[in-house]
Amino acid sequence: MKLSEKIAIITGGATGIGKATAELFVKHGAKVVIADLSDQSEATVEELISLGGEAIFVKTNVSNEAEVQHVVEETARHFGRLDIMIANAGIGHPSTPIAEYSLESWQQMIDINLTGVFLCNKYAITQMQKQGGGGTIVNTASIMGHVGMPYTASYNAAKAGVANLTRSLGVTYAKEGIRINAVCPGFVDTPILNNADEAKKAQLVALHPLGRLGRPEEIANAMLFLASDDSSFVVASNLLVDGGYTAQ
Ligand SMILES: NC(=O)c1ccc[n+]([C@@H]2O[C@H](COP(=O)([O-])OP(=O)(O)OC[C@H]3O[C@@H](n4cnc5c(N)ncnc54)[C@H](O)[C@@H]3O)[C@@H](O)[C@H]2O)c1
Repeated sequence: MKLSEKIAIITGGATGIGKATAELFVKHGAKVVIADLSDQSEATVEELISLGGEAIFVKTNVSNEAEVQHVVEETARHFGRLDIMIANAGIGHPSTPIAEYSLESWQQMIDINLTGVFLCNKYAITQMQKQGGGGTIVNTASIMGHVGMPYTASYNAAKAGVANLTRSLGVTYAKEGIRINAVCPGFVDTPILNNADEAKKAQLVALHPLGRLGRPEEIANAMLFLASDDSSFVVASNLLVDGGYTAQ
C-alpha cells in the first residue's frame, strides 16, 4: 500500500482518468474526496466504498474560487488534513476553426482547464503549509500542452499553461516539501472523447506508435507514482504517458 492513510482530493474524479485514479488510490489505502460536478459522482463514491475505501463527494466547480476553497476546507474538516491534490478536472474541445470559436468558449476553456488547476494548487498549497508543509500535487496536463493539434487552440493553450504553471509552482514549493508535478496523457479512451466518432478515434489511434489509445488505468498508475514516495526526487516535471505520441 503506497498511500496508507493519505487524504486525497481528486477533481474530475467521477469518471475517466479521475475515477480510475480514485479506485487505485483507495486500493493503496488513501481516503478520497471526489470534487466534481457530474451526476455520476455519488455512484463513483459508492463504488469506492464497495472496494473497502473511505470516500466522500463534495460538489465542486473547479472554476469557482469559493467552491475550490470550500472543498479543501471541507476535506480538512472531515478527514483532518490534505496530503494529495489531483487537479484533473477538464473539458474537451470540439474541432473548430478560430473564426467560428467564440470568446465565451475560449473563456470557458481557460476557466476550467487552466484557472481551475491554478485554484486547486492555490488552496491545496495553502492547506499543506498550514499543516507544516509536505504533500504532493499532480496536475493533469496533456500532450496537447506540448504539441499543437489543428483546430484545438484553446485546449492547447490551456494545457501548455498547466505544464508551465506546474514548473513554476514546483520549483517554488519544493523547499517546503510540497512536490508538484503534472501528468501528460496521450489520447485516452474516456467520456471526454464521446464526441469523436469511430473514424476520428481511428485517426487518433494512428498517431500513437503503440497503435492504440491509452486506458484510464494506465494514467492512474502515473498519478500513483507522482503522488507517492516512489517519485520522491521528482519535482516540477511533466511526465508524458502517451504511447510514444510526442516522440515522433
Ligand atoms: N482522455 C484523453 O484523451 C485525455 C488526454 C489528455 C489529457 N486529458 C485530461 O484528463 C483530464 C480528465 O479527463 P478524462 O479524459 O478522464 O475525461 P472525463 O470527461 O471522463 O473526466 C472529466 C471530469 O471532469 C469533470 N469536470 C468537468 N468540468 C468540471 C468543472 N468545472 N468542475 C469540476 N469538475 C469538472 C467532469 O464532470 C468529469 O467527471 C482532463 O483534464 C483532460 O483534459 C484527457
